[in-house]
Amino acid sequence: MFAQSLTGRFLLLTVAFVMVAEVLIFVPSVARFREDYLLNRLERAQIASLAVLATTDDEVAPELQQELLANAGVLNVVLRRDDVRQLVLSSPVPAPVSRTYDLREMGPAQHVAAALRDIVRPSDEVIRVIGVPVQDAGKLIEITMETAPLHEALLRYGLRILMLSAAISVIVAALLFWSVRRFIGVPITRLIGQIKHFQAAPQEPGRIIAPSATIRELREAEGALQSMQSELSASLRQRERLAALGAAVAKVSHDLRNMLTTAQLLADRMEASRDPAVQRTAPKLVASLSRAVNLCETTLAYGRAEEPVPRPVPVNLARLTEDVLENERLQPSAEGVTLVADIPPGLVVFADPEQVFRVLSNIVRNAMQAFSVAQQPGEVRLIARREGGDVVMDVADTGPGLPKKALENLFQPFRGSARKGGSGLGLAIAAELVRGHGGQLTLERTSPEGSVFRIRLPERVVPGRPHEAA
Ligand SMILES: Nc1ncnc2c1ncn2[C@@H]1O[C@H](COP(=O)(O)OP(=O)(O)O)[C@@H](O)[C@H]1O
Ligand SMILES: [Mg+2]
Repeated sequence: MFAQSLTGRFLLLTVAFVMVAEVLIFVPSVARFREDYLLNRLERAQIASLAVLATTDDEVAPELQQELLANAGVLNVVLRRDDVRQLVLSSPVPAPVSRTYDLREMGPAQHVAAALRDIVRPSDEVIRVIGVPVQDAGKLIEITMETAPLHEALLRYGLRILMLSAAISVIVAALLFWSVRRFIGVPITRLIGQIKHFQAAPQEPGRIIAPSATIRELREAEGALQSMQSELSASLRQRERLAALGAAVAKVSHDLRNMLTTAQLLADRMEASRDPAVQRTAPKLVASLSRAVNLCETTLAYGRAEEPVPRPVPVNLARLTEDVLENERLQPSAEGVTLVADIPPGLVVFADPEQVFRVLSNIVRNAMQAFSVAQQPGEVRLIARREGGDVVMDVADTGPGLPKKALENLFQPFRGSARKGGSGLGLAIAAELVRGHGGQLTLERTSPEGSVFRIRLPERVVPGRPHEAA
């Protein structure tokens, strides 16, 4: 759980990196220490051997030799002054020489390897070390020595470095941990808290974040969040107002419809009147009232209607279209209009048949109504084809074309109607239903010679609520 949090993960990473850094420091410094240790031994041995020079016959008493060697910390010294002369100090060697290190030839990698070997191996070996004497005192110096003191010195030195770097890394990790918490962890937690606070009541403008972070990136995030919250909040408030307005419209439509129905009954009776003036106007009044009732009803239906999510099944398009046309032929506006379908018999779409039926009826009926308004005969033709993965369906008429007012507000609820008694909902609902199928309803072309509406349905429907599918 802790490792999943930002600060926890950061702490673990810090520890890991500090350990890597420690290894990088530890290994070379131990190698360096060992090399210095050996050079120091060589130097001390050289000084010890030089004491021999002080004597006249290059002979030193064995006790003095022992003391000199013990002081230098070595068992034997050979100092080669030139090709012939050499100085030697020697004492008994406890074991045979097991390894030789020639410091003149060793590279860094060999020093590292030797140091690691000596630090882990508690040995009682005797080694030979060869080097160059200091101060040009000779050509070569060679000593034998025991490894036990070297091992101990290395161990002590290594432990000291470890302790020191452990202390440093604890301090560094603590500082880093604190600063990450302070500069990243805390502001992010605050941001999350703010988002939750806003989420609880997004329409309240008082809950919009006020940017306060001092770190630039966080401040930018806060700024972006602020503008997003402002927009969301405003559009939610607007939606609330629109919903209230919608409810009011529904109530008005409802009451109005009841009043109009009463008026309709009264007007019906007026038709029976003998007064010629009343007889002439009564039918117009009845027709007018019936259109008004109709408008109220469609408005109410739209207000209630949240179009259901389409339930797509494989549908034979030719058969469905035939059903639509048969139904439309029964309409009063079908007079003088020829309805034809030209659909490949095997064409199957994956769609909600009920909804596609409504879409087609709406578009076909609009065309028929346009013919009857223009008082002209005509033809409405339905064609379909497969295009890529989509099924494309055209509803083409030979009619008068869409009026300007309808064109300007096409597919917009309540606004698109240019017809007496029209609600301007037909095309808006049709477009919504097609969008619910993941498809598109468009007006392909319109002119006094005719109009073509095009329905494009994708091969596979991803059903979503129609009003969500923008
Ligand atoms: N095929 C068409 N030919 C001419 N005008 C059309 C056609 N289809 C639609 N219209 C126009 O578009 C308007 C909007 O249609 P619609 O959204 O169904 O609303 P309504 O039918 O209730 O008026 C209609 O009033 C009509 O003027
Ligand atoms: Mg219509």
